[in-house]
Amino acid sequence: MSTPATTPTWRLVEPPRADRLDVPEAWAHHGVAALERAVALTDLGHDDFAPRAVDLLVDDLHQEHLRRCRLVAVVDDGAASPRVVGHGDLTLPVTDNRHLAVVRVAVHPSYRRRGIGSAIADRLRRVALTEGRTTVFAEVELADEPAADAPDALAPAEGPGRVSADLPGMRLARRAGLGLEIVARRSVLDVPLPDDVVDRFVADAAAHAGDAYRLHTWQDPVPEEWVDQLAALEQRLTEDEPNGGLALETERWDGPRIRGEEAKRAERSQGALVTAAEHVATGTLAGMTLLVWDADRPELTEQESTVVLPEHRGHRLGMLLKATNLREHTRLRPATRRISTWNNETNAPMLAINVALGFRPAGGSAELQAPLSRWTSLSRPAPTAG
Ligand SMILES: CC(C)(COP(=O)(O)OP(=O)(O)OC[C@H]1O[C@@H](n2cnc3c(N)ncnc32)[C@H](O)[C@@H]1OP(=O)(O)O)[C@@H](O)C(=O)NCCC(=O)NCCS
Repeated sequence: MSTPATTPTWRLVEPPRADRLDVPEAWAHHGVAALERAVALTDLGHDDFAPRAVDLLVDDLHQEHLRRCRLVAVVDDGAASPRVVGHGDLTLPVTDNRHLAVVRVAVHPSYRRRGIGSAIADRLRRVALTEGRTTVFAEVELADEPAADAPDALAPAEGPGRVSADLPGMRLARRAGLGLEIVARRSVLDVPLPDDVVDRFVADAAAHAGDAYRLHTWQDPVPEEWVDQLAALEQRLTEDEPNGGLALETERWDGPRIRGEEAKRAERSQGALVTAAEHVATGTLAGMTLLVWDADRPELTEQESTVVLPEHRGHRLGMLLKATNLREHTRLRPATRRISTWNNETNAPMLAINVALGFRPAGGSAELQAPLSRWTSLSRPAPTAG
């Protein structure tokens, strides 16, 4: 662990705006991406989810649904641009969930325990208050879960899963007054699965679903005839996904929001593969599943949304959709070695499908929340020299 500095050598600044990455003003985008990568490698042992500079840029350029307020902690060490040693952002939903402020704070491992994280959290807290938000969310990623009888193991308010109360992120969040609501499991599937295994999953599930459903598979963009129904499915997912006691309201999705997500994926050089099930008798999309990858990371793909409408559940559509999409993904992306996904530990039906497909637990996240009135300032007196 690094020795705490007695004199602060860092300062907090709002990063400059940039509309592309190859300009000098984009130093903060590059700096935050490098910092998040260092944090992920140290704390988790992999950087599968560390945002790239382009991810940060695209989020900044498209704030119609999620507004972002960013701060960076920098040191001036004589280089052409300041060096980013910490950062924080506050995500403020605009279209729905306008009560929420979602906070993220990260500090470079060699600059921790100097008050940087607390200072960033305090500044973001003031923004959340000014914005009139009433609930704060935070997420702490876990490399693994502690044993249930470990002395520092913390149980969530709802559902299974455990988190070490001693993780730096958990210490900061709990000092700030946030409570652990649920634990999310990250799972990884090593791919490619043998062809006969995937074929068997598809065939078994198809036998249960029968001929009432017809599958459609596409890459971005979604065909115009399905865009509104796809939006309805995305919205339904936010309504139905078990989230324990997290104060989440249903997100509002429509065709333009789907098109906006596609445009952002294109700007980030991401590919997307959807398989959807049409209920033949009514022409309705009964369910869908979505895989997303970064073009420049052939080894990794993310399993994102999967949803089946309540009136179509119980026909193995979840398995049919996922296995069919996986089979097509193997054809398109043969170099991929792992598919990663997140599920709340309270989401038994989705976890059951993933476990059956061969996904194995690979860490997770603690989902924390508090009423904003209980988000406590962490300010401490400035350290005195000598
Ligand atoms: C969590 C995280 C942001 C904390 O950053 P940090 O800069 O070390 O935070 P602080 O220095 O303000 O506080 C950390 C500890 O140092 C202590 N500290 C702060 N200033 C200090 C000083 N001058 N001397 C000694 N200790 C000090 C704090 O009291 C706190 O102690 P605690 O852990 O016992 O409660 C950092 O560990 C991190 O990036 N973790 C990974 C990302 C994450 O989990 N983020 C949180 C969820 S959004």
